[in-house]
Amino acid sequence: MLNIIQNYAPVLLDGAMLTMKITFTAVIIAAVFALPLAILRTRQERYFRLPVQVFISFFRGTPLIAQLFLVYYGSGQFRPFLMEVGLWGFFRDPVNSALLAFTLNSLAYQTEILRGAIQSVNGGAIEAGRAIGMKATLLYRRIIMPLAYRLAFPALGNECILMLKGSAVASVITVMDLMGQTRRVFSQTFDISTYFAAACVYLLITTGFVLLWRQLERHLIRVH
Ligand code: ARG
Repeated sequence: MLNIIQNYAPVLLDGAMLTMKITFTAVIIAAVFALPLAILRTRQERYFRLPVQVFISFFRGTPLIAQLFLVYYGSGQFRPFLMEVGLWGFFRDPVNSALLAFTLNSLAYQTEILRGAIQSVNGGAIEAGRAIGMKATLLYRRIIMPLAYRLAFPALGNECILMLKGSAVASVITVMDLMGQTRRVFSQTFDISTYFAAACVYLLITTGFVLLWRQLERHLIRVH
């Protein structure tokens, strides 16, 4: 164990940095798009609701690893087209494919989390807003969304942790994230403590995140 740490700490740390970079980039990009999608989901218009519903069902209902393969190997099927539009280089980098797959996956989950939160906002608060003449946009901005984000906060933290651990599957398309580096070190040393070290690093990252999220929650959800 000790000599694994001594010899491979820099490599594992490199991997851990990539793991965090991929996860948080995906989660943050997804967070930006989740809000409009969640609002569309709660709207009555069928034309918007159906496509969003199909997208969510697909990305929540299939394994992350299948989605990753669909993006990474699937993009190979469209090589002429992707070369035409200059995106071939983008898809040949496995990190980008992982990023895309994880973003779409997290988007589906976050949209559902937000939709649930929006729909759970206290009806009385909305009526109070309407009663003082708030129009829909202002109502969303000042009442519905602030309350919805408070309701969604714990679930969003959970989503980040699930994505962080889920990102380990990127190693099967040769991404050298924490799991990728660990697998490489293990294939050279056959020392099982490599995996133990990796598990500890994952645990360290998730624990750090949980503590951070708890602090944020205290600040944002403070009851006045
Ligand atoms: N292990 C899960 C899967 O294979 C990970 C899903 C990611 N979870 C999430 N909340 N984004 O599908």
